[in-house]
Amino acid sequence: MDDAQQLKNIPDNSVDVFLCIESAFHYPDKQKFIKEMRRVLKPSGTFLIADLLASSRKKRYFLERWKKKMNFHHWTKEEYLQAFKEQGLKLTYDENITKPVIDGYTDFGSWVPQNKFKYYTGYLWYKLFVLIQVKVNIYLLKKRRHYYVFAGKIG
Ligand SMILES: C[S@@+](CC[C@H](N)C(=O)[O-])C[C@H]1O[C@@H](n2cnc3c(N)ncnc32)[C@H](O)[C@@H]1O
Repeated sequence: MDDAQQLKNIPDNSVDVFLCIESAFHYPDKQKFIKEMRRVLKPSGTFLIADLLASSRKKRYFLERWKKKMNFHHWTKEEYLQAFKEQGLKLTYDENITKPVIDGYTDFGSWVPQNKFKYYTGYLWYKLFVLIQVKVNIYLLKKRRHYYVFAGKIG
């Protein structure tokens, strides 16, 4: 499997539709990723990126170690737009889908079916784990991040 920042198994101008869903926030060198996407796209090709973005470039030093451990490298919307421009990519569609993503968590209780667990305590611990994850994600989506979809083509 290729690293998205170095698609060495994909020839130039060979891809009709390039999809990157909820993955780019893990790439340390996103400039290289956008450049590679541009390289492999056919002149008539299209791309779609769904990604978690940072709402600002403000650094919170106490979180840096955690971000490094989690391999988090969120870009801002402006950084994406700049990179698309630099690579001669034209945006045809962009949407902030943060709200519907948050709404999607509403029913998280049903994600953990009790009958999958041998012991009720195991079920309760797992449910607590999911609850914490969901609350942290909702907090981050409301305060620090945006969930965006970008689509475009060479142009
Ligand atoms: C949050 S998961 C989402 C995966 C996918 N969207 C899905 O729904 O299954 C992030 C994914 O990014 C992949 N990833 C992280 N760094 C990568 C890189 N440099 N190149 C390609 N994929 C990478 C990970 O392997 C992981 O599968």
